[in-house]
Amino acid sequence: MERDIQKVLLSEEQIQAKVKELGAILAEEYRDKNPIFVGVLKGVVIFYADMIRAINIPCEMDFMCVSSYRGTNSTGRTMISKDLACDIQGRHVVILEDIFDTGNSLQFTYEHLLSKNPASVKICTLLDKPERRRAGVTIQADYTGFVIPNEFVVGYGLDYAEHYRNLPYIGILKPEVYEK
Ligand code: IMP
Ligand code: MG
Repeated sequence: MERDIQKVLLSEEQIQAKVKELGAILAEEYRDKNPIFVGVLKGVVIFYADMIRAINIPCEMDFMCVSSYRGTNSTGRTMISKDLACDIQGRHVVILEDIFDTGNSLQFTYEHLLSKNPASVKICTLLDKPERRRAGVTIQADYTGFVIPNEFVVGYGLDYAEHYRNLPYIGILKPEVYEK
């Protein structure tokens, strides 16, 4: 796996320091609110598992699985393949995401959760690629780990063709890997 990586963009140490920082901010913000942290599968699993342990307050966990199918035009269709297990009406919800890219799936997820009448919905993303944002995406991340350049990244939950999710750091893939 390692030899397919051109460059380490964010080291394990950098990511872990950021997780602690974000975790402390969220713990402060949501103390006594018993928030529900909603993870968007599968990319978020590693970040989620680290974050939830850095947010040292009473809270609940739930997950959604959202898939986007991108055709030849830019309007990707988004579908829920797994919805929440719990009722979020009147609750404070925080969406945890691995990456905010075009914003299609996150916008869809946000609106879906909002339609269930929660007390609040905020977004926490580890990575943000603002250059890729699709016109018409109106949501913004409330908490962001790192703003990154427009490169395809893998590791720490992020995949290319389902591989590399288990790398402990975030790296840029060598172009020849895509060209194979
Ligand atoms: P969206 O384009 O913001 O809707 O992002 C949809 C999904 O595409 C993300 O949740 C990721 O799973 C995936 N994705 C976007 N950019 C990258 C990347 O650089 N590496 C790996 N997966 C990515
Ligand atoms: Mg994802």
